[in-house]
Amino acid sequence: MELIRIPRIMHDTSRGHILHGRSIGFVPTMGALHEGHLSLIKRSKDENDITVVSIFVNPLQFGPSEDFQQYPRDTDGDVAKLRKAEADVLFMPDASQVYPSGFMTHIEVGEISEKLCGAFRPGHFRGVVTIVAKLFNIVKPTRAYFGQKDFQQAAVIRKMVKDLDVPVDVVVSPTIREHDGLAMSSRNLYLNEEERKAACVIYRCLIQTSELLKSGIINKEKLKGFMKEKLSAEPLVREIQYASMYDPETLDEVENAGKEVLLAVSVKIGGTRLIDNMLVKA
Ligand code: PAF
Repeated sequence: MELIRIPRIMHDTSRGHILHGRSIGFVPTMGALHEGHLSLIKRSKDENDITVVSIFVNPLQFGPSEDFQQYPRDTDGDVAKLRKAEADVLFMPDASQVYPSGFMTHIEVGEISEKLCGAFRPGHFRGVVTIVAKLFNIVKPTRAYFGQKDFQQAAVIRKMVKDLDVPVDVVVSPTIREHDGLAMSSRNLYLNEEERKAACVIYRCLIQTSELLKSGIINKEKLKGFMKEKLSAEPLVREIQYASMYDPETLDEVENAGKEVLLAVSVKIGGTRLIDNMLVKA
């Protein structure tokens, strides 16, 4: 596996592959790699000639009171996992190369950035989209891979790609889960033993709500009430930020499920914010 730290060298390496007619699959990450990331890498390897993985903990997408400093970093462990997964290139730039002094350009996707997580993390998606656009320009992927756990992130990136005519296919892969259903996330590392046990209430809530929906209960207020009841029955759930049924395209809440809907949840367990979602056909 080739390790590249300088954007210019990544740019030239990708140009070389493109000139040779090779497709490039790209998995952008912030490191602390888990099975979810590895499943994206596997898919990229199956569908492309070259797989590039980036590790960059992007300061721009963290709010001032968020966990940028504490975000788990494990470069040696990540490199070992990437070698085992047979990634071709690891792109791991320094912040000073990505955001040199004087950097002042940002990309903002409108409305869909402001709902769900966006309402609780002002500026988060602006930071995500700006770094993803930069990484796309540097890596020049044919396809880029994201997990469904971050459904809104994928939707916002898709919109940016469409609106700005970025020539990249955005591929969204299913959420990878722990044995008890908890969606894999680098932030699960923050949970203590008790919190970790409590966290599976999120998946249980999504499963039970999807069963209700499939049994014919399609009204938002009823489903939302059910979700809130389930989540708040777990004493370690400190805050329910959102838990409802949404249109997967617009991310607006849906009054009565007609076609496919997105069930999405964000809760705080202890100090850790966890999100999850499920697409359900009513
Ligand atoms: O999902 C993530 O890990 C990050 O938001 C991403 C897409 C790598 C941008 O920093």
